[in-house]
Amino acid sequence: MPLRAAIPADIQPLAELWDQAFPGERTLAERARQLELGIPYGGIESVWVLEDAGRLVGTFKALRFREYIAAAPLAMLGLAAVAVAADARRRGLGRRLCQDAIRVGRERGDLVSALYPFRPDFYHALGWGLTGELHEFCFRADALPDAPARRHVRAATAADRAAIADCYARVAARSNGPIARAERAWDHHLGQTRACVYDDGRTRGYLLARYGRDRAPEARTLHIHELLAEDDVAYGGLLAWIACQRDQWPRVRYQARAAELLALRLRDPRPPGYRPARRLWFPTARVLRGPMIRVLDVAGALAARTRWGERDHALTLRIEVQDAEVPENRGPWILEIERTGAHVRRAQGTARAHAGLATDAATFAQIYAGELLPSAAARLGRAQIEGAADAIDRAFRVHEPFWLLDEF
Ligand SMILES: CC(C)(COP(=O)(O)OP(=O)(O)OC[C@H]1O[C@@H](n2cnc3c(N)ncnc32)[C@H](O)[C@@H]1OP(=O)(O)O)[C@@H](O)C(=O)NCCC(=O)NCCS
Repeated sequence: MPLRAAIPADIQPLAELWDQAFPGERTLAERARQLELGIPYGGIESVWVLEDAGRLVGTFKALRFREYIAAAPLAMLGLAAVAVAADARRRGLGRRLCQDAIRVGRERGDLVSALYPFRPDFYHALGWGLTGELHEFCFRADALPDAPARRHVRAATAADRAAIADCYARVAARSNGPIARAERAWDHHLGQTRACVYDDGRTRGYLLARYGRDRAPEARTLHIHELLAEDDVAYGGLLAWIACQRDQWPRVRYQARAAELLALRLRDPRPPGYRPARRLWFPTARVLRGPMIRVLDVAGALAARTRWGERDHALTLRIEVQDAEVPENRGPWILEIERTGAHVRRAQGTARAHAGLATDAATFAQIYAGELLPSAAARLGRAQIEGAADAIDRAFRVHEPFWLLDEF
């Protein structure tokens, strides 16, 4: 059964297949229109299909993104909309489609891949590892601190769009996890939310909010869809703006990035009406997981990384990745990390290194994206380390926990 790139004539059968695979999300007509227009993240040009006797039995989207991991921009394959016709399931076609997607990504030069799983272990077996978390808080708006900087926060207008996108781009480029956003992604985010900006002459932060529909005054909730700021003053100003909405929106729901340390900023981080946990502990945020990351090209991804933890002197590491889907990824690789950057080459004979790491593809992806330190992977029985474990941990340490706010 050959895989082929989709063509415009596939749009209708594709919309029908996805309507069956992901029921209720969109109408058939909306699906077809989105494919034609390529919104929000890519259209028919990113779709691949599998046919059996002239009938479409499987498909996926190989979306093209640039993703910042440890602040380095990497070509990323966004694997989405994997679907198999209802009568062709549990025969290995879903797995085959993912293997094909890995090949499509490698052939066009993608170094990593990200996806949102229907079931994590399915993709883990194919080399993707769960990465990043969001902390979902529901709190009283009056639990947020006020700050004088809120005077610089105002409702955004259409004229603020470029400044919001630029602010996001500056934050993303120094971060760990987010993608660069194209115009059509901004249409998607701004189209379903109301935006506010922190603007003291320059837009240094923004928030995107949705108004909840609960009619009971006590339960009215302001949903914060996204809140990003370039510095603590702008961040504090945006939080203070939310606090000021308390008479209209007594509750706030926000899925914060781990690095925001929101629990430590709230006067009372307990959700309204919470139930105690254990005997004397109480809940704060619910932990959300979603993205899974895979490294498609181990040598390429190592060479593309520019930040290598804290180091006093040059470090040579030996890295071996057992990757059943991409045997070329195995190496072993010799990674020489110097002050000016890193060099990667295939190990010859018994090349000397300060430390060695041997692991599987999913665990390597988690180490690469800062989800797991090599020593923690070893404790879990998912990696072997030889030599200076602390040096290899320091090399792979990232400056902030992984976060990705675009869902595809
Ligand atoms: C999710 C989906 C793509 C899986 O497709 P599929 O073709 O059934 O996938 P596979 O056959 O490769 O694997 C499914 C399971 O069947 C098993 N299987 C494969 N061949 C088999 C066979 N001959 N006999 C019995 N079981 C088999 C696989 O081992 C796998 O189980 P495991 O993950 O527990 O090991 C499909 O169910 C679907 O389209 N779902 C709706 C849309 C969706 O959720 N997409 C995912 C978006 S992230």
